[in-house]
Amino acid sequence: MISSPEISKINSLQRSLLAWYWQQGRDLPWRKTHDPYAIWVSEIMLQQTQVKTVIPYYERWLKTFPDVETLATAELQAVLKQWEGLGYYARARNLHRAAQMLVQQYQGKFPETLAEVLALPGIGRTTAGGILSAAFDRPLSILDGNVKRVLSRLIALPVPPSQASDRLWELSERLLDLTHPRDFNQGLMDLGATVCTRQQPTCLLCPWQTDCQAYRQNLQAQLPMRETTAPLPHKRIGVAVIVNGPQILIDRRRAEGLLGGLWEFPGGKIEAGETVEACILREIREELAIDIEVGASLITIDHAYTHFRVTLIVHLCRYLGGDPQPLACDEIRWVTLDEIEQYPFPKANTKIIAALKELAPDGILTV
Ligand code: ADE
Repeated sequence: MISSPEISKINSLQRSLLAWYWQQGRDLPWRKTHDPYAIWVSEIMLQQTQVKTVIPYYERWLKTFPDVETLATAELQAVLKQWEGLGYYARARNLHRAAQMLVQQYQGKFPETLAEVLALPGIGRTTAGGILSAAFDRPLSILDGNVKRVLSRLIALPVPPSQASDRLWELSERLLDLTHPRDFNQGLMDLGATVCTRQQPTCLLCPWQTDCQAYRQNLQAQLPMRETTAPLPHKRIGVAVIVNGPQILIDRRRAEGLLGGLWEFPGGKIEAGETVEACILREIREELAIDIEVGASLITIDHAYTHFRVTLIVHLCRYLGGDPQPLACDEIRWVTLDEIEQYPFPKANTKIIAALKELAPDGILTV
C-alpha cells in the first residue's frame, strides 16, 4: 500500500477539495444555516437515509418543530408521526429525548464540545463532528460511509474499511482543513456522494484525481474492498387485520427495540411446521386474549430491515369475542379505516393500510 499523503500533499488536497466544493458543492437546505438545532436534525436524518429522501422530511420537521423547546415539549406520538416512513425510528425517539436533555441541562442551547455532544443519545463520533463543524466551524473530522470510500480509494486501502477504522479516522483528521472545517467536511461528503460514487466513479471530474492511489493503479472499481457479510436472517410473520363492524384492532409496540412505540397490526413469528392460520390464532390468543376467526389472505409483504428480512403474511380476521388485553404491547385501540392515518406505523404496515383502502374504498370492510 502507498503510505498516507505527505504534509505538502495535504495542503494541496485541502485547497483542491475546497475549490471544487465552492464551485460544485450541492445546494442543500441545511447548508443555508448555522443553527445547531437544524443541523443536528439534518445529520440524524442523514445517518441512514439518502439526501433526496431527507429534504422534504427536514423541511416539514422544521415547520412542525422549529426549535429545541418545541421538540422537547411535543408528544412522542407526534414526533414519530413526523418521522413516519424514514425508518430507524430509534433516531426520532433519541432526538426527542435529547431535546429534553438540552432544555434541562443547557437551557436549550446546543453544547459546543465534542464530549458534551457525544453524551446525547443517538450521536456518535461522525455525527458529532458533522454537527460541530457545520454549526460552529469546530475542527472536528467525520467518517461516514461516503467518506470511508473516498479515503479508502485515496490511499488504496488493501482491507475492507471496517478493518481499518483507526487508520481512516487518523487520515480524516490529518486531511481536515483547520481554517475551513465546515466547508471541508461538507466537500468531502459531496465528493463521495457525487463523484467518488460506489459504482462508476467519475474520476475525470475529481479534484483529487492525481493524488488518488486507487486511480493511479486503476483500482477504483475494486476499492474499497468489500466487507464480508452473512446473509440476513429471515422471519415469516403471521399478521391479523381483526375486523369488528367498522373497526379494526391495532396495537402500540412496546417502547423499546426496533420500531418501538409505533402502531401495528397484531401478529407474530410463524414457528417451524406451523401454518399461517394456526400462528395467527395462537399469537392473538397469547398477546390479546381474544377469539377470532382467520379469514382470507389480504396481502403478503417482503421487507428488509438492517439485521433481518421479514415476510408479513396478512389475513383478514373476524372478531368473535373477549376483551382485548395488552399482554405483549403498550396499548390497544379499535379504529376505523379513516382514523388509522393518524397513527404512526412502520413502513411495511402502511402497505397493509393501502390494501385495506383498496378493498374498502368506502371504509366499510366485510369479512
Ligand atoms: N450525510 C451526512 N451529513 C450530510 C450533509 N451535511 N450533507 C450531505 N450528506 C450528508
